[in-house]
Amino acid sequence: MSVATVLLHLLLLSPLLAATAKRFRLPSDPSAYLTREVHWFDQTLDHFSPSDHRQFKQRYYEFLDYFEVSNGPIFLKICGESTCPGITNDYTSVLAKKFGAALVSLEHRYYGKSSPFELATTENLRYLSSKQALFDLAVFRQYYQESLNSKYNRSNVDGPWFVFGVSYPGALSAWFRLKFPHLTCGSLASSGVVLSVYNFTEFDKQIGDSAGPECKSVLQEITKLVDQQLLSDGVAVKELFGASLVTNDVDFLYLLADAAVIAFQYGNPDVLCSPLLEAKKSEENLVVG
Ligand SMILES: *[C@@H]1O[C@H](CO)[C@@H](O)[C@H](O)[C@H]1NC(C)=O
Ligand SMILES: *[C@@H]1O[C@H](CO)[C@@H](O)[C@H](O)[C@H]1NC(C)=O
Repeated sequence: MSVATVLLHLLLLSPLLAATAKRFRLPSDPSAYLTREVHWFDQTLDHFSPSDHRQFKQRYYEFLDYFEVSNGPIFLKICGESTCPGITNDYTSVLAKKFGAALVSLEHRYYGKSSPFELATTENLRYLSSKQALFDLAVFRQYYQESLNSKYNRSNVDGPWFVFGVSYPGALSAWFRLKFPHLTCGSLASSGVVLSVYNFTEFDKQIGDSAGPECKSVLQEITKLVDQQLLSDGVAVKELFGASLVTNDVDFLYLLADAAVIAFQYGNPDVLCSPLLEAKKSEENLVVG
């Protein structure tokens, strides 16, 4: 198997785009969800402008089977930088059952069906930030509390809200608790990426260590070859990877690097390294169709 085939195969295995690949994967099995029934909410586009009153539709989910209406808490599961297809049936459902909690989940702005704009132009992307997302959560929290109150025909009830998040949503979960302590009784930040590191080369270094010397050197060789071929015949090398539509070279290189990296991050080094090492043994040029 050639390198292009191996990496392409890895890309196809991933249900998400490479841009979202560093996070946990969302299950495709319907039984993995407590609910996938969609609800919509009118969200403010720009929380920081006094004059811009535009809104967009933000998708959310609720699961009330375990909810003890009189005194149950509300668990807010924060979704992040990928589509949010429902409320996953994981340990939070065990906790919800135990504590009589309502489960709610809000899709992150600009992902899945919660995009304020159709086109991802730079101008349109200006409202995509974790800060706007935090205020989305705060506004939603107030909206949903009121909607629960009217559902159960009561007023002025403010239940205890607990926020959950993993990875980027883990950071949002921690930040939400810090920024809005009056809106939460607690927060769980799992693998919360609260520290941004510019040019985070340590990550790639770790991938190299995890790969081991042989596989690492093949990966480096491939990177070098693709770098060269991108300069000499970019159209051909992109076509090799089924990435003809990726016009931006940096996007393409990211795609390629990320396809390899996820094999290590998700514990499948052999799926990547075994065929690569074999290809290295038997082929002159590693990057062929
Ligand atoms: C809702 O509350 C109002 C005011 O307390 C009461 O008059 C009404 O009967 C309640 N409706 C239901 C369906 O419980
Ligand atoms: C990133 O860090 C590496 C290693 O320290 C350095 O060689 C490279 O120039 C840096 N790149 C940028 C864009 O800062």
